[in-house]
Amino acid sequence: ETQRDPGTNDEKDQQLAQHRIDATGELTTSTGTRVDDTDNSLSAGGRGPTLMEDFHFREKMTHFDHERIPERVVHARGAGAYGYFQVYESLSRYTRAHFLNDPSLRTPVFVRFSTVAGSRGSADTVRDVRGFATKFYTREGNYDLVGNNIPVFFIQDGIKFPDFVHSVKPEPHNEIPQAQSAHDTLWDFVQLQPETMHMMMWVMSDRALPRSYRMMQGFGVHTFRFVNADGEGTFVKFHWKPRLGTHSLVWDETQKIGGKDPDYNRRDLWDAIERGQYPEWELGVQIVPESDEHRFDFDLLDPTKVIPEEEVPVTPIGKMVLNRNPDNFFAETEQIAFHTANVVPGIDFTNDPLLQARNFSYLDTQLIRLGGPNFQQLPVNRPVAEVQDNQRDGYGQHYVHRGQTSYFKNSLAGGCPYLADADRAYQHYQERVDGAKIRHRSESFQDHYTQATLFYNSLAPWEQEHLAAAFQFELGKVGHHHVREGVVEHLNQVDHDLAVKVATGIGVRSPEQVTTNHGRSSPALSQAAGFPETVY
Ligand code: HEM
Repeated sequence: ETQRDPGTNDEKDQQLAQHRIDATGELTTSTGTRVDDTDNSLSAGGRGPTLMEDFHFREKMTHFDHERIPERVVHARGAGAYGYFQVYESLSRYTRAHFLNDPSLRTPVFVRFSTVAGSRGSADTVRDVRGFATKFYTREGNYDLVGNNIPVFFIQDGIKFPDFVHSVKPEPHNEIPQAQSAHDTLWDFVQLQPETMHMMMWVMSDRALPRSYRMMQGFGVHTFRFVNADGEGTFVKFHWKPRLGTHSLVWDETQKIGGKDPDYNRRDLWDAIERGQYPEWELGVQIVPESDEHRFDFDLLDPTKVIPEEEVPVTPIGKMVLNRNPDNFFAETEQIAFHTANVVPGIDFTNDPLLQARNFSYLDTQLIRLGGPNFQQLPVNRPVAEVQDNQRDGYGQHYVHRGQTSYFKNSLAGGCPYLADADRAYQHYQERVDGAKIRHRSESFQDHYTQATLFYNSLAPWEQEHLAAAFQFELGKVGHHHVREGVVEHLNQVDHDLAVKVATGIGVRSPEQVTTNHGRSSPALSQAAGFPETVY
């Protein structure tokens, strides 16, 4: 019996109750005909061939043959749970989002944690980024905060995402290595795309080896936008902080645990919730007024940058508790579909080019992964808010729409939804946009090292040791010498001593100390990488 605390019978739970099935009655076919033998197929005589007529056999087998769906193209391996979110105080000054305005409200959530590179059956304890995706079932529609446990990303522009993922996934000729960062293609991508350096520092740190999903931070990564009832916008970065603190395994532990219990993080989350030890996170925001958009020495739209907390502190705004395990992994954890473009009034996007790409990608991939356009009707995805749209038909249509019309406008009435008033509807933030159509990113995106150095300097000496050892181990597996050298050159821009340490460990000539050109990427490296140098 799954643990339920008394507070978990929320709107989402009530909705799910209509879909739950306890298999306790007589066995039937999927059309409800009772079955009294499911071990012996219908055959002509005791030793004869199986008969086509055996509809029970055929149905049982064909359903089984179709049980698998494509795994997620990234973040295939995950674990999830239900819970709730509650804001501490109304944020109406910044956002009109109802669930962030009413402190008495508990908004149901589902969170899915994941690794990124490995397949659905890969081990939990690999060195990798972890996904931290939250679906808020708000009364104004579903809001998805699709984050990671690292506050920055590998690339600045989503058009590189297919290249990046091709480099990080197992290599195509032999599908090796599974879910590891130790291979030539990833490091080749890194050495040719210096914008990856900040993220790679995090990925080589102990942050990429979380002790538990319950002990992991989460970040929205992009700069998003709050919009209040007066239509005023404010930039916002989202941070989840675990109540249990942020803890990592060390490399040696991950190796041993990976062999003995590949489900280590998944099991930990499940068991904690079953025991009633409900994990909690505090949601915090960094708020930046629009007037400060150009105040920083990096671009707020660049997802390879953090806003240092010394410059803009994180304000706690609410807490999340996960208190209910799913009933069925496939139905809920596997079929949930997160999407950065699932927003509610009061939360909007910015022109971060990575975010813009994501706003296309998730729905697109889910159309194939979940078999057509009606996956929002799956129990785990259904909003608790009322749905009234003019979408019709398609594979897996579950609604029986009534009435004669499914178009707008119509004069026949009878079942056609009408438009909401503006104060209830989603209003896109009225940002002024102006510019020539070009394929070059602004100069403000060109510094790839300063924050990598900042991160390295923020580590304790033993954390720096772990990071250097990780670089040595992972890069030491790379067969192509020029790839090792290329990465060491970039590391030299981040920290000379680190570069020498790594170079020495992997048989690469130690680089000369560079007069620090932090604040700008090295033109030589940028050109070698085919990266446009100075672009306005
Ligand atoms: C999953 C695309 C960047 C976090 C996915 C999926 C795709 C995708 C196609 C699989 C979704 C599914 O099958 O349901 C992209 C693209 C990106 C990008 C094109 C960049 C342009 C990011 C970033 C983050 C992130 C920056 C974190 C801030 C996640 C998470 C999941 C995911 C957490 C798993 C969601 C789940 O648990 O179901 N992404 N992604 N992605 N992505 Fe991204």
